[in-house]
Amino acid sequence: MIAHPIEPTILVIFGGMGDLTWRKLSPALYNLYLDHHLPERFAIIGLDMKKLSPNEFNKRLRDGANSFCRCGSVDDDHWNLISPNISYISGNFSEPAIYAALGEAFKAQEKNWGGPANHIFYLATPPGIVESIVRGLGAARLAHDRRHTRIVAEKPFGHNLDSAVALNSMLTAVFDETQIYRIDHYLGKETVQNILAFRFANALFEPIWDRRYIDHVQITVAEQVGVEHRGAYYEHAGALRDMIQNHLMQILCLIAMEPMVSFDANEIRNKKVDVLRAIRPIAEDKVVHHAVRGQYGAGWIEGQKIAAYRAEPGVAPDSPSETFAAIKLFVDNWRWQDVPFYLRTGKRLHTPYSEATIQFSPVPHQSFPTSATLAWQPNHLTIRIQPQEEIVLGFQAKQPGANLHLSPVNMHFSYQETFKTRSPEAYETLLADVMLGDATLFMRSDQVECSWSAIMPILNAWENTPPVEFPNYQAGTMGPEAAEVLIAQDGRSWIQSPLDQDPEKDPGVSG
Ligand code: BG6
Repeated sequence: MIAHPIEPTILVIFGGMGDLTWRKLSPALYNLYLDHHLPERFAIIGLDMKKLSPNEFNKRLRDGANSFCRCGSVDDDHWNLISPNISYISGNFSEPAIYAALGEAFKAQEKNWGGPANHIFYLATPPGIVESIVRGLGAARLAHDRRHTRIVAEKPFGHNLDSAVALNSMLTAVFDETQIYRIDHYLGKETVQNILAFRFANALFEPIWDRRYIDHVQITVAEQVGVEHRGAYYEHAGALRDMIQNHLMQILCLIAMEPMVSFDANEIRNKKVDVLRAIRPIAEDKVVHHAVRGQYGAGWIEGQKIAAYRAEPGVAPDSPSETFAAIKLFVDNWRWQDVPFYLRTGKRLHTPYSEATIQFSPVPHQSFPTSATLAWQPNHLTIRIQPQEEIVLGFQAKQPGANLHLSPVNMHFSYQETFKTRSPEAYETLLADVMLGDATLFMRSDQVECSWSAIMPILNAWENTPPVEFPNYQAGTMGPEAAEVLIAQDGRSWIQSPLDQDPEKDPGVSG
């Protein structure tokens, strides 16, 4: 986020009554207001099908902020200052009337402010409606002012490479690429953004950040939650599309990219695209050696009985959708040739945590007696994204005492302990950046398409061979056995996070 004054802004939320607005946008906006990151002249216009009074919409936003804001509950005095700038338009997104009403609302607001404002269109709607909105905005000439108009799109950006290309060309037929802000909320997380600072604002690690010193990289995003009320969406997505194609690939890019010349949105995005382009294509008949899928069956988490994925609402009783995916990728360039990147994610896993670990190579020669190095481990650097926000460096130290024993120890940097403040939510950072017109943390069309290209062989192979073994992991474990085999076949293993206790020891886990 670049700090400079934000021009007057009207934020238009398509899907104003939806879950995303309620859970994420409203609390983020309220926090931005509290932190003085909203422009002085700022208005919200909610749009949705439902007939509502502006007051009812206002109440819904307030309820979202009250329920999910990191600041605790909403303060009446503050909300009363925001309220007059909240309005609502109901209507059908495929009919011109709603866009005409929006145009009138802009005119009225700008007349009131005595000057033009930036217009931000936030698509907080299901993907099926996006096309009619974009075309409606285009037809009503609400998209043509490139300098003052922006559109924010949420994932999924397509269902596969072809549909992503089609979506991008539909968007760019109406908006210029510079007006489009594709959200990957992982890029708004402080710890994810800090990967760039850690790598390129310090001279210490960059000289060893390559194939000569790094054995492999692991990225884990483990979720304890299931699909919640999103069974119908998830049935068509699955873990590979839902998480790996976007969030995990973006983390991989930040770890693998070359240093940027300047902190410029396109420069950084170019460097990330270089990584995605260098990902070694996987032949469809070799997918089995590179990717593993899983689906959870019933189990226990923290003493609670958890239903199987196939028993979730909106999910088919014989669903082939994966709720777990682990893949191995290579980045074919000078820096990373033959260094494996292992990525895994899953739902209903034992412990929720997201982290990336850079595992360094062993020392070239072990000079200590074997008896001293029984507990020896290679150096590792772990970037903890959530719930802990930390960077941990693992190395060996001599245990105190007369005998020579080496033990792995850790050096910790914790955000909370160091900065004594809670990080902003990803949506706060991203919304503020859209208002500032800073696209660094957003996905460009080529990033999205290259990322789809990298995983298409896996998606195709999985579609062509429906799983016969689902469900293949129990809720409350860390995924299917095959994920262990994927990495064990290379003589490596998933690094167990200290956050993750042994599932066997959880009294809630049934046998
Ligand atoms: C979303 C996925 O993009 O990210 C969800 O659609 C997932 O399935 C969520 O639960 C995870 O985000 P976070 O910020 O909770 O790690």
